[in-house]
Amino acid sequence: MWPYPRTLAHRGGGTLAPENTLAALRCGLAYGYRAVEFDVMLASDGVPVVVHDPELGRTVAGSGFISDYTAEELGRMDAGAWFGPQFAGEGVPTFEAVVAYCKAQRIWMNIEIKPAPGFEVPTGLAVARATRSHFTQEIAAGELLPLLSSFSIAALQAARQAAPELARGWLVEAVPAGWMQTAKELGVVAIHCDHKQLTPELARQVKEAGYGLFCYTVNTRERASELLAWGVDGYCTDRIDVIPPMA
Ligand code: G3P
Ligand code: MG
Repeated sequence: MWPYPRTLAHRGGGTLAPENTLAALRCGLAYGYRAVEFDVMLASDGVPVVVHDPELGRTVAGSGFISDYTAEELGRMDAGAWFGPQFAGEGVPTFEAVVAYCKAQRIWMNIEIKPAPGFEVPTGLAVARATRSHFTQEIAAGELLPLLSSFSIAALQAARQAAPELARGWLVEAVPAGWMQTAKELGVVAIHCDHKQLTPELARQVKEAGYGLFCYTVNTRERASELLAWGVDGYCTDRIDVIPPMA
């Protein structure tokens, strides 16, 4: 039911490196993490890039929107200096570059489709198509594939349309009333929720209904143990330095 790793480095390297960069992935790997979550949205040229915020300014030096710049322009921007001078010049990576790094290092991926507002359908389509093209051989061989996820129902529907063979998780803050009907309609395999909003009863319901259950963002070993005891299958963490990676 949950064939995936249980413990994922959030945004590549948690809070130990500039999020959603190749440096973050290297940091995660240095801590033994071979499973990551990261966020994907579209550059102005429709190329999927790995970044969290639709606006520049917090992690990417500059102003305007991700959707104002091409992937090549974003790659030349600075997504590392905000975190520390040793990361200055670290660009916004393309999704393709991140997948290539993860595949080379045998890092499993939870690919969060993170559309900028108004770009839900094209982002879901593009990320699913790109994932399928990057994993053609693995799909044919029946190997373990990445898990797509999104808060956006429109993006999840688009991803399903573009690549129905790729499993999807539905991201929510709190598991809403009526979740099972929506999950069924979306054809997702898992519910991804904020662990602070989860209760043992909701966890039991999700598991009894046959869905995977994933939590974000769990930052102590004690809480991780508690959630696993509730039946949670996997979680991502910002504290890759305090929570050891598990198989
Ligand atoms: O995918 C889990 C988590 O990353 C969702 O929240 O804002 O960190 O993308 P956010
Ligand atoms: Mg995310």
